[in-house]
Amino acid sequence: MTIQWFPGHMTRARRQIEEKLRLVDAAIELLDARVPHSSRNPMIGRILRGKPRLVVLNKADLADPRSTERWIAAFRDEGHDCIAVDAAGGRGVKEITARVRELVAPQRERMAARGVVKPRAVRALIVGIPNVGKSTLINRLAGRGAAATGDRPGVTKGQQWIKVGGEMELLDTPGILWPKFEDQAVGMRLAVIGSIREEILNLEEVAFFAVKTLAVKYWDAFAQRFGLEGGPPEDVEDPEQVVDVLERIGRKRGCLISGGRVDLEKASGVLLRDLRAGKLGRITLEEPDDSR
Ligand code: G4P
Repeated sequence: MTIQWFPGHMTRARRQIEEKLRLVDAAIELLDARVPHSSRNPMIGRILRGKPRLVVLNKADLADPRSTERWIAAFRDEGHDCIAVDAAGGRGVKEITARVRELVAPQRERMAARGVVKPRAVRALIVGIPNVGKSTLINRLAGRGAAATGDRPGVTKGQQWIKVGGEMELLDTPGILWPKFEDQAVGMRLAVIGSIREEILNLEEVAFFAVKTLAVKYWDAFAQRFGLEGGPPEDVEDPEQVVDVLERIGRKRGCLISGGRVDLEKASGVLLRDLRAGKLGRITLEEPDDSR
């Protein structure tokens, strides 16, 4: 995998987020529910520096609901409130405002004690790596009749607040974080869900990783979607058994080259497209207790 984030990029991204953070009471850390660990920036704690944070697992419609429950429990154990949403379909999104308000309640009480009679709406910022659904969520929270409240002192020119139901104001541009590419498996998981540009990928390598990681856990879904007979691979550490699954998928889908051999690249494309579109059902690529 040749994707790199250069120190200069990271520094710039980090400064931009720090500027935005000064304007808000709380951060909404958006993760992909299928890969909550891999879609998380490992430096997030240092970047947010104690700012109250709600962890939101987005694309929950595509993730395994049992795994999502485990992840929510894991984030809560870690001390962060966490909810699952589907920003595209709207499920769970309304809950965000209430949770953010709860998060900043202690701060609000201190303000009240200091004699601030009518505290203003809670201000929040969405942060996350590319493709987790930040824009989709902002649009969803903005809803119909959303009104940007205009430039305010201290806000970078062009940045606007979006009113969310009178109780929350959201910065209209998200904080963009970078993923943690140092770990090969993290990059691969992001590639499987389609969060890394296709041009720089080796499709077969990504599909191989997908089969290796998912074929046993979700064998019924694989078998059903592609009409595969027999059981899952006995040993996913054996590359031949993993490739065999890909070949069987390719054969079922007519991905053949001369001599009747399977076109592995085409078969890989078929598998990844179906996985990303949720055609194999709701799938999560990593569990909280996976060794990291
Ligand atoms: P970003 O700002 O964080 O970069 O993400 P963005 O909102 O652009 O969303 C990335 C893709 O994810 C979009 O698909 C969007 O529709 C999809 N998406 C966002 N939230 C959800 C969700 O809760 N569930 C599902 N199923 N999809 C969601 P897209 O524009 O079609 O891009 P692509 O699918 O062609 O990559």
